[in-house]
Amino acid sequence: MAQPVIVELHDVIKSYNTGAAQVQALRGVSLSVTAGEYVAIIGPSGSGKSTLMHILGCLDVATSGSYLLDGDSVEELSEDDLAQVRNRRIGFVFQQFHLLPTLTAWRNVELPLCYAGMPKAERKRRALAALEQVGLADRADHRPNELSGGQQQRVAIARALVTDPAIILADEPTGNLDSHSSDEVLRLLDGLHRSGRTILLITHEADVAEAAGRVIQVRDGKVVDDHEAADRDHHLHPAGKPAVDRLAVAKRKSGQSGRAESGRADGTTQ
Ligand SMILES: Nc1ncnc2c1ncn2[C@@H]1O[C@H](COP(=O)(O)OP(=O)(O)OP(=O)(O)O)[C@@H](O)[C@H]1O
Ligand SMILES: [Mg+2]
Repeated sequence: MAQPVIVELHDVIKSYNTGAAQVQALRGVSLSVTAGEYVAIIGPSGSGKSTLMHILGCLDVATSGSYLLDGDSVEELSEDDLAQVRNRRIGFVFQQFHLLPTLTAWRNVELPLCYAGMPKAERKRRALAALEQVGLADRADHRPNELSGGQQQRVAIARALVTDPAIILADEPTGNLDSHSSDEVLRLLDGLHRSGRTILLITHEADVAEAAGRVIQVRDGKVVDDHEAADRDHHLHPAGKPAVDRLAVAKRKSGQSGRAESGRADGTTQ
């Protein structure tokens, strides 16, 4: 059975007015994403990636154009509806993790459920299940400063998962991680994709983007390329092999040197 379209943007324009100057950050973006896809959005600094992420995540609204999220017209939603969408239907993962330092891992993970008004016992059960999913059941009572960067990002992914959202939206999730932790996070996203999750990954690193099944390239506020990733059958490979290594092999095979617009966060290149 064909999967439903979960995200549909049509001719989205976003302008910012800053005093006398007007910046057009998005200049007519149209794209659609089907449930279960793993899509990377890549582009150079200032190309409009974060603006696009804010619109996709209902953190901001387009100046014009339309956005259908899971069949609902976002422009017609009230502020309360938008808050519900952000809380329940989208799981956010950010470069800086955004964990609350005074709360333990499971307390951080249960937060979106507190806003949703769920009873405490059920919140704890779900938070622990989400931590189990990211392989951190044994760190549930640790505070963020007692966890490595990669582990903190996995807690953030558990927090994104706990409401069982339609989409996981990740903005540079590996941007603050060393290559080993990046691999862990990419492998985790890969596993979530294989279990049927829809993932939108924003990155400026070509090797990270190639971990997705589809790569959309933005430049100057427009989509300039939209293609299946070179290693599109990567999820058929046995688990446990680092995603980035698999990509390096795929690139070597195809004689492609990679289109990285910058090096990796740890300064290495491939
Ligand atoms: N709040 C704002 N007010 C005015 N201009 C903005 C605002 N946010 C973004 N812009 C401008 O819109 C354009 C796109 O910015 P955006 O943050 O979406 O880029 P980006 O692709 O995420 O870049 P980076 O990779 O550096 O994070 C840039 O020219 C930026 O200066
Ligand atoms: Mg950005």
